[in-house]
Amino acid sequence: MARIIGGIATTHVPSIGKAIADGKQNDPYWKPFFSGFDYVHRWLAREKPDVAVVFYNDHGLNFFLDKLPTFAVGAAAEYRNEDEGWGIPVSRAVAGDPALSWHLINTLVEDEFDITMCQEMLVDHAVTIPLALMWPGQNWPVKIVPVAINTVQHPLPSMARCFNLGRSIARGLESYRPDLKVLVIGTGGLSHQLDGERAGFINKDFDRLCMDKLAADPEDLTQFSIPELVELSGAQGVEFLNWMAMRGALSGKVTEAHRNYHVPISNTAAATMVFDNEPSVRRKAA
Ligand code: DHB
Ligand code: FE
Repeated sequence: MARIIGGIATTHVPSIGKAIADGKQNDPYWKPFFSGFDYVHRWLAREKPDVAVVFYNDHGLNFFLDKLPTFAVGAAAEYRNEDEGWGIPVSRAVAGDPALSWHLINTLVEDEFDITMCQEMLVDHAVTIPLALMWPGQNWPVKIVPVAINTVQHPLPSMARCFNLGRSIARGLESYRPDLKVLVIGTGGLSHQLDGERAGFINKDFDRLCMDKLAADPEDLTQFSIPELVELSGAQGVEFLNWMAMRGALSGKVTEAHRNYHVPISNTAAATMVFDNEPSVRRKAA
């Protein structure tokens, strides 16, 4: 049976891709951020996930404002990246797991999530940067199921809705027969605003509250409405919705294993967290 081994949340600022391409990981500006991944690398080397469900937001590479699904799930054998104009190298394609994708799509629709299913899907920096951070060298040993959440064009789904989306994904994983170790990933955030009068806005207190609540009491965070989330975390800080979905997908006993918080990377409060997920009901060995 598929087993959810844990969750990783990380920012996805595109300039990280340029820093990697230029080998700047040890520069004074970048080191406090990249060194936060030493633990992640050890954790991944030990846990060896087979697949990753990636909750992220597309920034206009695959979906544009003319047609923007609230939730979209990839069901492709591979996902290509393309040049988004950030001046970072185009990544290699990421392998998909169509059988798992269709299983999760079935569960989501059963659970009344009216998702868009994508047999072709480009993935942008919100997928490729986190993978490059987790597995340097582009030797990505996992297949992915990308789940895109609209954090771009209002109205956005609520914090509770995204948390429950993760819950439904967990239910789907728990009924998937192949013996897979599954990692769930949430990308983006934390607080940032890229444009308008509040460009450069960062809110360390709110970021800390979100990180503190995430392990122990994530449902408490559903008290924040989308307008409140914009106010407290910035227009693009709403990418935290991807973190809520990731946390919803951790269905067992969850503990925070690691956290790194560094301000700023580009315009963003850059955070990385790792959660262990111990299944609540241990299944008997076959
Ligand atoms: C930045 C942050 C993002 O989340 C993004 O998608 C693009 C740019 C930034 O801080 O530069
Ligand atoms: Fe973003």
